[in-house]
Amino acid sequence: MTPAPSPTITPAAGTPAKGAPALGFSTLEQESVIDELPIQGELPPWLEGSLLRTGPARFEVGSRQMRHWFDGLAMLHRFTIAGGRVSYGGRYLQGRAYRAAQERGEISYGEFATDPCRSIFKRVQSLFNPGATLTDNANVNVTRLGERFIAMTETPMPVQFDPHTLDTAEVLPYATPGELTTAHPHLDRSGGAMLNYAASLGGRSSYRFFRVGPDSEKAEVIGSAPVRQPAYMHSFGLTERFLVLAEFPFVVNPLDLALARRPYIENYRWKPERGTRFLLFDRSSGAVAGELRTDACFAFHHVNAYDDGEEVVVDICAYPDPGVIEDLYLERLRAGKPLATAELVRFRLHPGRGTVAREPLAEEDFELPRINYGRCNERPYRYTWGLSCGESGFLERIVKVDIEQRTTKTFAEPGLYPGEPVFVARPGAEAEDDGVLLSLTLDAEAASSMLIVLDAAELRELARASLPHHVPFGFHGQFDRSLSG
Ligand SMILES: [Fe+2]
Repeated sequence: MTPAPSPTITPAAGTPAKGAPALGFSTLEQESVIDELPIQGELPPWLEGSLLRTGPARFEVGSRQMRHWFDGLAMLHRFTIAGGRVSYGGRYLQGRAYRAAQERGEISYGEFATDPCRSIFKRVQSLFNPGATLTDNANVNVTRLGERFIAMTETPMPVQFDPHTLDTAEVLPYATPGELTTAHPHLDRSGGAMLNYAASLGGRSSYRFFRVGPDSEKAEVIGSAPVRQPAYMHSFGLTERFLVLAEFPFVVNPLDLALARRPYIENYRWKPERGTRFLLFDRSSGAVAGELRTDACFAFHHVNAYDDGEEVVVDICAYPDPGVIEDLYLERLRAGKPLATAELVRFRLHPGRGTVAREPLAEEDFELPRINYGRCNERPYRYTWGLSCGESGFLERIVKVDIEQRTTKTFAEPGLYPGEPVFVARPGAEAEDDGVLLSLTLDAEAASSMLIVLDAAELRELARASLPHHVPFGFHGQFDRSLSG
């Protein structure tokens, strides 16, 4: 692979700091509304709308510390771009997990890797009424369903919010058909419904896919498959024909989750001898139309998937094992320990032959992937944007991968730690990469965060809008053109 010319700026003399700056994992107390952020550079005149993001922002409750990056209490962030100006709103998601923390000063719901201190009585109570103990700390992603804006985590407790005020609504936007789900739903192009995954746990557990109409509160199960020990599932793939479940061998006995003797993720077990199994669900019938196996690996994120003749192409940010989950405990992150890195991998599934071929798509490590979703999801595509650690030990570079040419471009600046680069297409664009990237970035030296706007084709910086405070590292967000006022 020949790397393309790259605008990477290498750190100046001296040994660069390894790992993440601890500031990215420290609490942001302050909620704020700022009418106009100072801007350096120039925003494209066509760029209007709001970037909505969620992420952990509080890591202590009373005398307790959250243990894992994924545990922090959710704050919503809104960057509204209009008329060449950027305004900001930051507000804690006022769900029951947050309210209980505020009112009682204690952790009351089990998070990803942090549990409340529960008495035996409360444990038994939770066994018989699991819904009452599920967190709604929706710190992973946001989505739009019809006119509703929803923050999500991996429990069936999505939280609706007002995208202007960031107020939390006291309604459950829809009922999830299972106990676990993902914060990475897909859009059904025909009709604007949401497609998502759920695991129904019990005596007979199953993997499920479901659809929720844009104006509906009801989830319709559109496919299912029985499973004894469900795998940890963070996202899934979608092609024009199939829903693609990549089942990595990091699995849980549902009884262990019900008994809740340890925090949620610590009930999962790595069983590499099982390998990775791909399940293809036919989108029209819901039937399992293919089951294929390959070597064990682990991933959080699908990048994209599409049908290619007899084959199904599934692109994933893959790790050799789930060790990265250990790396994301706050103690390790704050100590600057390096992360395990993911590889951008293409799996070519041939359901007729039952074969799976694996090939790397980039030399750079690659996480928090985005694509030109509106144009390319479920279809052949050429570009993806994400973050890379390189030698640094933590995500500190924005990378564009040209999958066709197998080349990369990089944006980096010493002391800057960019977040997920969200692609926004230029209206009327012809080229797939004609648009901008929006990245909520921490400036470690200035101890504050900013929204960086890059030209998506060349990764050239166009503008930055600075906040007066830091925003703890988060995960995902979405840009919505309709929210420009
Ligand atoms: Fe994610």
